[in-house]
Formats: sequence, C-alpha cells, structure tokens
Amino acid sequence: MCGIIGVVGSSDTLGTLLEGLQRLEYRGYDSAGIALVRQGQTWRARTAAGTESVAALREECLSAPSGFSSGIGHTRWATHGAPEAINAHPHLDCSGNIAIIHNGIIENHTELQEQLEARGHHFTSVTDSEVLAHLIEDQRQLGLELSEAVRQSLLLVRGAFALAAMDANEPDVIVAARRISPLVVGTAPGVTYLASDVPAILDRATAFYAVNDDEVVRLGPEGFRATDLEGAPVRLRQLQIDWDLETAEKGGNDDFMSKEINEQPDAIRATLLDRRRRNGAICFDELRISDEELRDVKRVVLVAAGTSHHAALVAKYAIERWARISVEVDISSEYRYRDPIVEIGTLVIGVSQSGETIDTIQATREAQRRGARVVAISNIVDSSLAREADAVIYTRAGLEVSVASTKAFVAQVAALELLALRLAQLRSTLEPKDIDALFLGLNAVSAQVATTLDRRSHVELVAKELLHAHDFFFLGRHVGFPTALEGALKLKELTYLHAEGYPAGGLKHGPLALIEPGVVVVAVATDPSMHEKILSNLAEVKARGASVVAVATDDDEHIDSVADYVLRVPASEPMFTPMIDIVPLQLFAYSMARGLGRNVDRPRNLAKTVTVE
Ligand code: G6P
Repeated sequence: MCGIIGVVGSSDTLGTLLEGLQRLEYRGYDSAGIALVRQGQTWRARTAAGTESVAALREECLSAPSGFSSGIGHTRWATHGAPEAINAHPHLDCSGNIAIIHNGIIENHTELQEQLEARGHHFTSVTDSEVLAHLIEDQRQLGLELSEAVRQSLLLVRGAFALAAMDANEPDVIVAARRISPLVVGTAPGVTYLASDVPAILDRATAFYAVNDDEVVRLGPEGFRATDLEGAPVRLRQLQIDWDLETAEKGGNDDFMSKEINEQPDAIRATLLDRRRRNGAICFDELRISDEELRDVKRVVLVAAGTSHHAALVAKYAIERWARISVEVDISSEYRYRDPIVEIGTLVIGVSQSGETIDTIQATREAQRRGARVVAISNIVDSSLAREADAVIYTRAGLEVSVASTKAFVAQVAALELLALRLAQLRSTLEPKDIDALFLGLNAVSAQVATTLDRRSHVELVAKELLHAHDFFFLGRHVGFPTALEGALKLKELTYLHAEGYPAGGLKHGPLALIEPGVVVVAVATDPSMHEKILSNLAEVKARGASVVAVATDDDEHIDSVADYVLRVPASEPMFTPMIDIVPLQLFAYSMARGLGRNVDRPRNLAKTVTVE
C-alpha cells in the first residue's frame, strides 16, 4: 500500500509533496522519495528510515534547488525488494530524465526486465516498478509524447498500478494511470494534483476526480484530460468531498475497522498477484529452501496467535487435503514451552500479521534451533519473523490500523492456500489441471467478498434486533469451524460480550447444556457436504429456545426452516469459504459494537501487536 502524490504548476512544489507524503502516513511506509522535474533537469531524493522516512526526506530536501513547479512523491510499503533507499521511488530511466512512481504490482516484471536488459537497459533497483521507467523510455525514443508513451507501455503490462510519470524533456506534464490501485486527481486555479487518496491534497485542491481502472490522465497546470487505454477520451467522475482530514484518512468511513473490512477484496487480490511463474509454478516472495526440501516435507506445524491462529487452522484443512501432509496447529505461546518434537522434514509455518508477535517469533526460533525449516506468512515486509525465516509469503493487505484484525485474516488465508497449492504442486498430489482450477477459484474470491460486503445493510438489521443479547455461540464444521472461532473472537473483542466458537459436532459434549432462550447461536452453514449435519445441530439449539443466525449460501433453500436470521453469501469451493463467510460475521460484530457504543478501532485492554509474553 504505497502512497503517491504529484503536482504541476505549483509555486510550492516541495511543500505540497512533503506535506502530502506526511498525510499519507496512515497508509504505512518504510521508505520515501520525491523527484522534481523542469526543462532538462530531474532532481531526486530518497530515504529509507522506516516511519521516519518522510522526516528524513524533509532533511534531504533542504538542499533541493528552487524553482521547480512540478514534481512527484512516493511513500513505499515494500512488496518486491527490501525497504532500502535504492528500491525507494521515484525510479529513473537510463537517461535520468524520466521519473516514475508506482503503487501496485507489475506481474510480468521479470519477463519485461529480461527483454529490456536485452535491449541494453540498465536496472538499478530490485523492484517490479522500475520496468515502467524503462518501458516509457523505449516509447519516448520512438518519438511519442509522454502521455502516449505511458499508454503504449501500459499495454505491455500485467498487474496492478497507480502510476505517475514525468520527463524533463516535457516538463510541466505528469501522466498518471490506474488499474486496481487507487488514484484521484485534484484541481485548483493554475495547479493540478494527483494522489493515492484525498487526504494528501485535501486542503490544496478545490475539486476532486476519481480515476477508474485502465484510464490514463495527462495533467498540466491548466487541468487534465483523460483517455482509456485505447486512447479514447473519457470523463472523470467528480467526487463530492466534504470531509475533514480525519475522515479523509479513513477513506470517508467512520473508523479504520470499517475501512479495513471494505478493503478486503483488494487485500485478497493484491496477495494473489504475481504468484505464478511462466512455467505455472506458484511462487514465494523470498525462498531460501530448495524445491526438493519443500517436496520432501514430512510434517507441517503452524504456529500463530489470535486471528492469525484461526487462519492457520484453515490452512491445516487445505494442506492436508491438497498436499497430503499431516499438519499440526499450535498457539505459538504453547509451542515453545512444550518441548516440541522436530523430526527431519518438519516445516514450521509462522503466521503473523505484524511479524513481531513475541510468542510467534520465539516459537519459530525454537523450531529453527531444533532443525526445522521455517516459512513466514507476514504482512510487514522485513518484519523480524520474515527476516529470520527460510522462506516468506507476504500478505499484501496494506497497513492494518484497527486492533481487531480483519483484512489481514482473509489475506493470510489466501497466502496459506497458495502455499498449500505449492506443496501440492511439488508433491504431485493434485493434477496440474486441478491446481489451475483452484488457482482460478482463489482469484474469484475477491469478487465474492465484494458481493458479500454489498449486503452490509441486512447484517446491520440483524445486529440491531440482537443488540440486547449477552451470550453467543458460534458453530461450524470443517473450515467453518475456524471461521466460527474467528467470528466469535471478533464479537468478543469488539463488544466485550461473551462469545464462544465451537465445532458444531462438539455441541452435544457440553455447550448444549448452556442453550436456553436468550442465547444466540451463529452457525457457519455454507459447506454442502456438512449441511445436513449442521441443520440438525441447529434444530437442536432451536428446540431449546436459542435464536439462530446462519451464514448460508444464496442457493440454500432449507436454512430458513431452522434459522431466525439468514446472512447470505455467494457459494464457493469449500476451502475458500472462510474468506467469504467471515465477512458477515465481521460486519455483525462491528454493527453490534457500534450499537453498544464501543470504540471499534481500540477495544479496551487489547493491543495490536503483543511484544511481551
Ligand atoms: C493481537 C491482536 C490480534 C492479532 C494477534 C496476533 O492479539 O490484537 O488482532 O490477531 O495479536 O498478531 P499477529 O501480528 O501475530 O498476527
């Protein structure tokens, strides 16, 4: 989740860029940079000092020459390439005249870089983004204007981008474009702006416009014109913005949690981008284990805490089903102190949004000390967990601010299922055609999550009706069980009400004794193979007076006979359902918490990252 900003025609270019970058801070960053461009000259500064990067950049810019009316700036949240100054944006072409900033992922960057290097281009970073500068350079050498050069370059690119490019041979022009990653344009008399998000330019621009997917915009001091990728003119939609800065940082949402719940389709989509090599192999971000070693894994142990532990539980089902390896899941604080057995061929997977949870890091260290290989699933590039692991898959959910985790969970499940598919691929436990189908299905989840989010208002109504309740049991079978655990955790964290997750099959072994009128049972009932069993579990609790809420698929005709309230979701391959089914449960917990007047972003007594035992 990088942040980008640009301005043309300004008398305060540097101030606009630095202030804008500071205001993008809530998106998270590990490095920052700007480029100022005027006729025949590009001046660039870049810093990598974690969250101090913009402050460090401000220092560097004290030596910037004056008299630039145009420039671009970027805060980077690393995906490809370590968070170091050489990988910070803007990136330049070989001539040093063209500067680009990019948020997103260029999926075919490896093959494009090979082609560009074969044509003599010299790369100076380890990023996917730098190919854009060189592609545009090639097109400019053919004599194309910058806007045309950008458009032609983008026809060669696969992936996601919010992009801005400048050229010292065509100053006072910025060309911007978007696919998937966010981008807005702002105008004021004689000055035009672009940014990832409105806050960066909130009090500078007077009118704001949304750039849609596959649109290219040429910005000059006098305004902008936009085309689609074929070059046909398009009109940008004007946005009605009456936000203050705080609301703008939350993207117009009331709180970060609601923003992060809404960002889940993007979190999944970004996590799945650029994950298959040309030969079909599913790939990691960092890999320091050989394919042979991965193929010969005898046992997998997942260690994690909180929400990440629930994502790990989902992975157990996927790895066992697809890769036929037996899997154990441990709460990380337990693993370390129980003298674990680590046999040859044990692969330990540490799952952590922050990559800094002390128990999880200590658990993976203990496993490594005993000879295990460790894979990290982390949302933060270069986190302690990621640095120490033998291989890493990053969840690209972007910065998660709200203490209770939402978008990180769905991204973790997506990343873990990718890993399960990779293990299946190496072990030939699935046919290539089945892997292709599952990979396609995984890529369809993002749209199913978006459909589910559109049904928010129904969930709000159900929450309103149940606002008086104090006791909740969340039930599920198969992967519906970890989903139920996560649904219960969300309700507990956000509302401070008693909520317990339970395997539906375990109901008769205890919890059934607690069921009486006033208790709410929330069931995850989307798996067709488990459906009859769940229906009979629900009939049992209903007969004892509980109110029943069921998460069920659109085509489920039987659920109404046992459920008082039904939260509908699109049907999908069972292994993918946790990413979809958790959405109504998050919305339910959120709506209950709001109804009860709780602080959803900062629940009492809890911390986002737990770094003490
Ligand atoms: C804390 C947070 C949870 C999170 C857990 C694990 O308890 O409040 O939201 O799931 O830590 O954090 P991690 O960063 O390791 O995923």
